Amino acid sequence: MQILVTGGTGYIGSHTVVELLKSGKEVVIVDNLSNSSKNVIDNIEKITNKKCKFYEIDIRDEKGLEKVFEENDIEAVIHFAGLKAVGESVVKPLEYYDNNVIGTIKLLEVMKKFVCKKMVFSSSATVYGDPGNPKYVEDMGRGKASSPYGATKAVIEEMLESLYIADNEWTISLLRYFNPIGAHESGLIGENPNGIPNNLMPYIQKVAIGELKELSIFGDNYNTKDGTCIRDYIHVVDLAVGHMKALQKLNKPGVYIHNLGTGAGTSVLDIVKTFEKVNNIKVNYKFAPRRAGDLPEFFADPSKAKSELDWEAKRGIEEMCRDSWNFISKNRNS
Ligand code: NAD
Ligand code: UFG
Repeated sequence: MQILVTGGTGYIGSHTVVELLKSGKEVVIVDNLSNSSKNVIDNIEKITNKKCKFYEIDIRDEKGLEKVFEENDIEAVIHFAGLKAVGESVVKPLEYYDNNVIGTIKLLEVMKKFVCKKMVFSSSATVYGDPGNPKYVEDMGRGKASSPYGATKAVIEEMLESLYIADNEWTISLLRYFNPIGAHESGLIGENPNGIPNNLMPYIQKVAIGELKELSIFGDNYNTKDGTCIRDYIHVVDLAVGHMKALQKLNKPGVYIHNLGTGAGTSVLDIVKTFEKVNNIKVNYKFAPRRAGDLPEFFADPSKAKSELDWEAKRGIEEMCRDSWNFISKNRNS
């Protein structure tokens, strides 16, 4: 029996594949390489000393997916494949609905055909919208999405809930991630987006290696301790372990929702200062106007994941900053 990981060569997917292989699971990866590269597989194998199967397939390619299910005995799917750039989704909404929503429908249809009814889905804290309280709890429900990207996550969550109502043999885990940063301690896998990054840590990394001149900190006059926005940053390895725990608990049909965050809020300035301190490197920055759509503060209530999944984040901000630098300094030309 194998675990199918869609988007398995991507940032969070690759770290999850490492944890799966380490725990003795057999893994099949499906990825169209639209935002990752095939050499991630070699690096996963170097870290784990184990092999995984790889198919370069788009999840919207039903025939291709059917072949994957025919050739393997898939017991569950961890579904990461999707487009994730909030700003780009505003400019290209149809691409986001097509890739994320239609892609998920195709995948579910093939799973149904092969009677594989267990899925862990990559959702996001963005589905809460703006609930008016910075501490997000699972029973707050979904709010109004602030971008087409966020809307695709909310639609997929609803679709999966409807699927369970229609056929209660499905076992579905919706994992709502907060802000993943960091990299595997080996420095062999991590996040290194093409072009100018949108997210904070990839931007800091590029400033630190001298590829970009300075970081713009969006807003210095929020009602927070130092005026900059507060988020719940989580080490990508902790996040990967959270998927393992969710998978282990997929033994009773239903839809289960869990936040994966640390529960601690950290400001943008705290991240910059910690990155400078632990890596002994300067990160040039300036204050810039607020970015449209940013909330001043939000963080997870992670207690449900702790009690139900027996999972909690273990790595702190210093480790996240150290591992992010270790990865980028070893991969600056790739
Ligand atoms: P990523 O871009 O590094 O990984 C996604 C992978 O999916 C890539 O390797 C890409 O090539 C692949 N992919 C995209 N569309 C595909 C398709 N149609 N068919 C096959 N493969 C396809 O992103 P990530 O940061 O690892 O995120 C993984 C998942 O987690 C995404 O669904 C994302 O929306 C979600 N998520 C990410 C964050 C974050 O901040 N990184 C936060 C919340 C949720
Ligand atoms: N920031 C800067 N400068 C930058 C980039 C970011 O100051 O160059 C700030 C942002 O204003 C924000 C914080 O750093 O205050 C974090 O920003 P990110 O873009 O890294 O992350 P977001 O919190 O905006 O978005 C993340 C995920 C989305 C998800 C969203 C809500 O990237 O996928 O959380 O859960 F939708």
